[in-house]
Amino acid sequence: ALPERVKIVEVGPRDGLQNEKTLVPTEVKIHLIDMLSEAGLPVIEATSFVSPKWVPQMADQVEVMKGINRRPGVSYPVLTPNLKGFQAAVKAGAAEVAIFGAASELFSKKNINCSVDESLQRFEEVTKAAKEAGVVVYISLRCLVGQVSPDKVAQVAKRLYSMGCYEISLGDTIGVGTPGGMTEMLEAVSREVPVDALAVHCHDTYGQALANILIALQMGISVVDSSVAGLGGCPYAQGASGNVATEDVVYMLHGLGIQTGVDLPKLMDAGAFICSSLNRKTSSKVAQAACKL
Ligand code: HMG
Ligand code: MG
Repeated sequence: ALPERVKIVEVGPRDGLQNEKTLVPTEVKIHLIDMLSEAGLPVIEATSFVSPKWVPQMADQVEVMKGINRRPGVSYPVLTPNLKGFQAAVKAGAAEVAIFGAASELFSKKNINCSVDESLQRFEEVTKAAKEAGVVVYISLRCLVGQVSPDKVAQVAKRLYSMGCYEISLGDTIGVGTPGGMTEMLEAVSREVPVDALAVHCHDTYGQALANILIALQMGISVVDSSVAGLGGCPYAQGASGNVATEDVVYMLHGLGIQTGVDLPKLMDAGAFICSSLNRKTSSKVAQAACKL
C-alpha cells in the first residue's frame, strides 16, 4: 500500500545551487527559500557549512540563515561535514543539520576526503555534539544503486541509525539505478533500519527517478528528496539532468491521491523565479509541459 502522506525534502537551494559556477547572489537564495516555504514545502535544505575552498557557492551560509523568513513548522537543515561546520551552523541558528557520507570508498574520498570508516568516526563526533545541543541530525548517504552492494549500504545505514540519526536519506547520486536495484537496496536496508527512518534521494540522469521513487513508496518509505526545477545537473555528465524535479514528484504524488501539503502553482512560481535568475531552462517536465498550455 502507498503512504497517505509524503514529506518532501526540498534540496534545491543547497544540492541544486552548490554546483553553479557563477556565484548566485545571496538575496536570490533567500528569496528562493522563502518562496519554497510559502509553497508549503515542510523541509528545505538551506545551505551548507562546508569549506568555502571546496564549495565556494555556499560561502554565504551565515547570511542565508540570517536572511530567511523562518516559517513556523518548516525545518531548514544545513549540511555539516564535521564538528567545525556543526558548531558554525548552530551559531547561525540551525536547529537541524544533515551530515553526508557515502557507502562507497571512492565517493567518500572524492566528496569528503576520507574513508567510509573515518567518515563514520567523524559523524559520531557530530551526532554526539548534536545530542548535547538538542539538534536533529539527518544523514544523506550516497549509495549508487546497482554499483555498491546492498549489504554494504545496509551496514553503513545501520551504524548511522544506531548513532541516533533521525532520518537516513539513501541517495542514487549518479542516477544509474533502476527499479530492480532500488528494490534490492531498500529490502537490505529495511532489514536493518525501520522504514519510517528512511528517505530516498533520486537523480533523473538516466530517466529512472520517478520509477525509483514509486518503488520506495510501495515499500513504505514516505520521505522523498527533490529539487525545484530539477536544479543540480549531474556533475559527471554534461547537460544531463541531476536531482529529480520537485514539481514532477508533487505532480505524481497528487495524481496518486497522496498528500504533500505543497501548492503546485506556487512551487512552479519558485521554479520559474530561480530559472530566470540563473538564465536557464527548467529541468522539470511538469513545468515544461505547463508552459505550453
Ligand atoms: P579537508 O581539506 O580534508 O579538511 O576537507 P581539513 O580539515 O584539512 O580542512 C581544510 C581547510 O578547510 C581548513 O582551512 C579548515 O579550517 C577548513 P585552512 O586551514 O586551509 O584555511 N574547514 C572548514 N571551513 C568551513 N567549514 C567547515 C570546515 N571544515 C574544515 N566545516 C572537508 C574536509 C570535509 C572540510 C571538505 O572536504 C569539505 O568541505 N567537503 C564538502 C564537500 C561538499 O559539500 N560536497 C557536496 C555535498 S554532498 C552532496 O552533494 C551529495 C548529496 O547532495 C546527495 C546527492 O546528491 O546524492 C548529499
Ligand atoms: Mg542530489
